[in-house]
Amino acid sequence: MVMTTSDKSSRMRLAQLQRAMLACTRCDALVRCRTRVVPGAGAAAAAVAFVGIAPGRFGGDRTGVPFSGDRSGTLLRAMIAAAGLRRVFITNLVRCNPRDGRGRNRDPLAAEIANCRSHLEAELALVRPKLVVCLGRITWLHLAGREAAFDPAGAAVVRAGRWLLYPMYHPAYVNRGAYPVQCYARDFARLRSALQGLGRGDFAAAGGGAGRIAIR
Ligand code: URA
Repeated sequence: MVMTTSDKSSRMRLAQLQRAMLACTRCDALVRCRTRVVPGAGAAAAAVAFVGIAPGRFGGDRTGVPFSGDRSGTLLRAMIAAAGLRRVFITNLVRCNPRDGRGRNRDPLAAEIANCRSHLEAELALVRPKLVVCLGRITWLHLAGREAAFDPAGAAVVRAGRWLLYPMYHPAYVNRGAYPVQCYARDFARLRSALQGLGRGDFAAAGGGAGRIAIR
């Protein structure tokens, strides 16, 4: 693959942006419970960005890389590889590991997601993915809004501002047996077709039929 000058400058600007994120202190509770800030990782520019919820305590909070070192990360990365997806960027709604009083993972609070939103927007603005895959209902709700149903089976693309959002189950949902791994693999193959459709400028092939686009 040929790397263009603009790819190089995006990579440098992303690295600079993410160095600044490492010092973030917007959320008191997360500053107390995180081991480190975990910025997104991957290609700049990207064809597809995967957005999870927050780094896991056995994963990104230890490794510094989203979706790595834990079962969710192993499954997500295996699916990406099996589908042959290239130029992938992986990030989260929130860049710190949220824990409850007993030290277990908890969902981030709406205020924590809001505090981290500009970090996510800045990453996406630099990596410019064709599709933003929302991993799980929480991510979908925060990026697509309440009016857009979370329907990975329908896989309808939703436009939210400048982004095209695509719903998929979170790998943790599959790991706990709530959705068959074979179906998850099929969903990733369909995602690849959607990306190819977008590459041809064919929005309908990506699931974005006229009545299925929500403009926010
Ligand atoms: N690891 C992440 O980086 N994000 C998740 O949502 C779950 C695990």
